[in-house]
Amino acid sequence: MAAGGPRAPDAPAPLYALTGVTKTFYKKRRTIYALRDLNLVIRAGDWLAVQGRTGQGKTTLLQILGGLDRPDSGAVIFGGEDIAQMREVHLTRMRAESVGFIFQTFNLVGTLSAADNVEAALIPLGIRAAERRRRVSAALENVGLADRARHLPSELSGGQQQRVAIARALVKEPRVVLADEPTGNLDEYTRDEMVALLEKLWRTLNLTLVIVTHDTRVARHARRIGTMTKGRLTINTVNEHR
Ligand SMILES: Nc1ncnc2c1ncn2[C@@H]1O[C@H](COP(=O)(O)OP(=O)(O)O)[C@@H](O)[C@H]1O
Ligand SMILES: [Mg+2]
Repeated sequence: MAAGGPRAPDAPAPLYALTGVTKTFYKKRRTIYALRDLNLVIRAGDWLAVQGRTGQGKTTLLQILGGLDRPDSGAVIFGGEDIAQMREVHLTRMRAESVGFIFQTFNLVGTLSAADNVEAALIPLGIRAAERRRRVSAALENVGLADRARHLPSELSGGQQQRVAIARALVKEPRVVLADEPTGNLDEYTRDEMVALLEKLWRTLNLTLVIVTHDTRVARHARRIGTMTKGRLTINTVNEHR
């Protein structure tokens, strides 16, 4: 390779590169700096845990990574494109194709079975019915719920509902999975099961995972652990061996 080349062949461009990202909210004529001049690089295959107390900007960061919100200033490069500047139709498409979301409250549709909740993620992608069914089965299998496909959310435990939500996030084979306090509504035992599942999926499916959690027992499974304080992110730990 030529000396001074832009990039070594074994160092691909990062999945995310955020530079100078700022997000402010106005509440009762006060300015809230949810994100302050935030810089962050996330490589494909990374697992980043973001810790921090309530109100420090963690959810805002995930929303901006997922294209659910836009910063006031700064660049949010995702797969080579600045999603902060992207037109709404393209952003909607990017979310549907490339981002899997997992929420604290599961956010399943109560009137749909587990399988139909998972399949809903594939409808906007124009995938044919036979292929959708194959992928839904595989996704439910991956989270250990093959035998619960026809159950409604109300017929499942909290842990099972979150596993359906994980299957829904994964079924589209997203480029990144973003999880906001995914174990926040689970008891300790179920939390440990969920973390073990996420770890297995991260390894076997080569996921890129960003998890917001205030729970150190969840965070410590990640490859990198950062803390958000007043809209600023500091990376504290890098588990290189992971
Ligand atoms: N839509 C909004 N409107 C007004 N203020 C908001 C909004 N979203 C977040 N905030 C404020 O921004 C700050 C960061 O919020 P958030 O990102 O939800 O923090 P965290 O997830 O760490 O608890 C908080 O002060 C919060 O009140
Ligand atoms: Mg939050």
